[in-house]
Formats: sequence, C-alpha cells, structure tokens
Amino acid sequence: MQRLNKPDLSSARKRTKNQVNTIEYENFKNIKDIGKDKSYIIQTHGCQANEADTEVIRGLLEDQGFTPVSVLEEADLVVINTCAIRENAENKVFGELGRLKSFKRLNPNLIIAIAGCMPQEEAVVEKIMKKYSHVDIVFGTHNVNKFIEYLDYVIREKKQLIEVYSNEGEIIEHLPQARENRFKAWVNIMFGCDEFCTYCIVPYTRGKERSRKKEYIIEEIKELIKDGYKEVTLLGQNVNSYGLDFVEEKYDFADLLEDLAKLDIPRIKFTTSHPKDFSDSLIDVIAKYPNIMPFIHLPVQSGSNNILKRMNRKYTKEEYLDLVNRIYNRIPHVSLTTDIIVGFPGESETDFEETLDLVRKSRFEGAYTFIYSPRKGTPAATYKETVDPQVAKQRLYKLNDLINEGFLAGNKRFEKQVVKVLVEGYSKTNKGVLSGYTENNKLVNFSGPESLIGNIVDIYIEKAKTWSLDGKVVQ
Ligand code: 5AD
Ligand code: SF4
Repeated sequence: MQRLNKPDLSSARKRTKNQVNTIEYENFKNIKDIGKDKSYIIQTHGCQANEADTEVIRGLLEDQGFTPVSVLEEADLVVINTCAIRENAENKVFGELGRLKSFKRLNPNLIIAIAGCMPQEEAVVEKIMKKYSHVDIVFGTHNVNKFIEYLDYVIREKKQLIEVYSNEGEIIEHLPQARENRFKAWVNIMFGCDEFCTYCIVPYTRGKERSRKKEYIIEEIKELIKDGYKEVTLLGQNVNSYGLDFVEEKYDFADLLEDLAKLDIPRIKFTTSHPKDFSDSLIDVIAKYPNIMPFIHLPVQSGSNNILKRMNRKYTKEEYLDLVNRIYNRIPHVSLTTDIIVGFPGESETDFEETLDLVRKSRFEGAYTFIYSPRKGTPAATYKETVDPQVAKQRLYKLNDLINEGFLAGNKRFEKQVVKVLVEGYSKTNKGVLSGYTENNKLVNFSGPESLIGNIVDIYIEKAKTWSLDGKVVQ
C-alpha cells in the first residue's frame, strides 16, 4: 500500500495559544548507511528558510552516507525543496518534475523527493498524484526530520510515500546540518508566521509562530564561532515577534540580539522584519553594537494606505516613514532594503504613485519587487478588483527603474572610502577576482591572493556600479 497523508490548508490556518515544546532530534538508530554508494542532489527554491532546511536535509543524508553530486545525471536521489510564494516558482518545479520523468525512465532506481512549501498545499499534492506519479516521496515543512525514515520505506517497499502534516509539531533541536558556506551561516531563531498578510501563503505552509529557546541559539552560534564562522544571519519570517510566544519568560528580539552581539562573532544580520513591531529598543541595540551589520531588510509591500489595509499589513505609510526616519536618525550609516508587490487587487494608479513616493522618501538601497500572484486559500485570491497584467508589468518596470537608482546611490556613497569586506571567494563571473560583502551588504570585487578568503579585509573603493563596487586591498 502507498503511504498517504494529505495536507489541508483550512486546518493549517488554525492557531492555538499553547507554547510549542522543544525536543531533541532522535537519530534513526535502526536505519544505517542507506546512502552508502548512493549520490544525491538538492535543488533549492525560495527563501532563506528553505536554504536552511536544505542544509538539514543535506546533513541527514550525509549522516546516512549519501554523497553530493553536482549534475542530475549522476544522482541516485533528487530532492527538490520547493517554494509556494508565487505561481511562477511553482511552475518551475512542475517543469522540472516533467523533465525528471525521462530521467526516471532511463534509471528506474532514481528516487525523486519533493520537499518544502508546495507539498503543504492540497492542490499540489492532488496534481502530483494525478500527473507526476513518478515522484517517490512528498513531504512538507513540518516533517523534514523524518526524511530518512521515508527514504528507508521507499527503498524497501518501492512504493510512493506522501506524508504532509498540516500543523506544526515540536521544535526539534540538534538536527544534523551540512552547511553550504564556510564563513556565513543561517541560524533559525523562529519558525512560522502569524501575520496572515492577505496575499501570503506562508502562514499556511510554515505554521504558527514559534521561537527557539535562546540557550539553543546561543549554543549554536558559539559552535559556529569555534568553527571559524564570521557572519550569522538570524532567520525568521518576522524576527521582530521573536519570543512573543514564550509563556513564562519575557525575552524579545532586542534582548536576543543584544545577547548575541556580546558573543565573539564579527557580524550579525537578521531577516525578515515586519515594520509593525520594530521597536525603538531594537533600533538602539543595532546602533550600539558594531558587530550588528548596519543593514536592515524592511518589507513595506506598498505605499498606499488603502492597499496596506487590504493587505492586512497593520501599519500606514506615515507610520512606516516615521520608523524609517527613526532608524536613519539613530543609525545614519544604515542601508535599508525592502520588498514591494505591484498589481495587488484594487491597486489604482494613485495607489501606485503613493508607492513610488514612499520609495523616494525611504532612500532604499535595494528591493525585491514582485507582481502580485494569487495564492489559492488566501483571502486576496478571492478579491475581485484584479489589475490588468500589462498594467502590473508596466508598474513593475517603472518601480524597478526607481529602485535601481537607489541601488546605485547606495553604492556611490562608498566611493573613495575604505570598507570592511568578508572575502567569500573568487567572483563567479571573473576568476582571478575576489569578491565579498561589506557590513552594509554591498558586493565588492577586487584582486588579491587566495589567502584572503574567509577573512575580513579593508578595501578601498575605487568605483561604484549599480550592482557592485570595485576596489583594491588596502596595504
Ligand atoms: N504575490 C507576490 N508577491 C508575494 N510575496 C508574498 N506573497 C506574494 C504573492 N502572493 C512577496 C512579499 C514578501 C516576499 C517574500 O514575497 O513581498 O515580502
Ligand atoms: Fe507572509 Fe506577511 Fe508572514 Fe511575511 S509577514 S511571511 S508576507 S504573512
């Protein structure tokens, strides 16, 4: 019999007040070396939460003896860690699944697994069952820790397994992780989202907000320091609500950030912040500690109060601008970036002009911009006042032009200055040229010896371009 447990978006919407328990990861002691002589490849789509989950999946697999390969043709196991945030992200995955059908014909032993946010949607699971029966394992965001058990089942029974939970379980600590980067690490501080912005599927696919206990976060970062890591990015869908789910303790994101800044880690940044609960005490902590990077990603989504309300963002344009000004006053050298959606149902030309106005006033130095994509199961998907796709596209182009101006202006302010760069490696496009990021998260290219990789180095900036800076090592 096929193993089947399908998701259900309406039960995924439910929230309870209970604090979620923390448990330690239990190794599958009875399952050993199932990956011996087997290779794997993972494709990761979407946000940093998925990048972090991929590192856990890699950790689980490598514990079982699987070895990574870089081309699909050589893999015995393909895992696609999927994103559900927009339709085109999903279409890419379905395209890939179509392509994998022929791989499976050539190699019937190939195991195909789908993970991440897409399996949390019932429509996706139905579609996989109907049209993509060559997929062996479907699991979601709440049971990554069980992947090895699922693999073992599929290898032994040679049957399809679909196991998706609609609701989150416990927080699981000490999961194995195989990190991609040797100097920069993702550290989850919380999971899930309770905001329910009307356009967004994440609260359904990632469950209720739950914060990791500070002891585990501190312990993880101390380990990273020992291993030579130079930068950590604290992850959560809304890091500003960290700790609000603690029942006994009063300990919020500003408290956590301050405790972490006191550790011996050269750089800390965080993502993502919801503007509605970005406190003054948090701004103070960022201003106070030099190892907290002066870089804040602060998604605004729209500059129109009418649209913000329909998006359920819980702040006005004026409140957002006031926050931005408070941040600039306390941290003058900060770089701000944002996310913006155009073409949200009911967005008029005037609403869009309001967004452009807010962008000018906020002096953003970068942004991710998107055309609204209806997500089945979310309130906005039922809104009738849709925007003509051509109009939405034109708005996106116009917005991007403005954002690019801000990107360049943000880079220009470092011309003829010395900046600190965490050197990551040779530039992807030009071997022989090293590259890395500044404290303001600006990409810098420069020539230098390989020995600089992994160090924080002083670089004199000679020229600012729109997407990067050119510089030379300060002798
Ligand atoms: N359509 C378009 N963009 C979306 N985002 C989230 N949901 C949607 C959607 N349905 C964008 C938001 C969010 C970013 C991660 O993705 O801007 O901040
Ligand atoms: Fe989605 Fe809003 Fe939560 Fe961000 S805060 S993950 S946009 S619901």
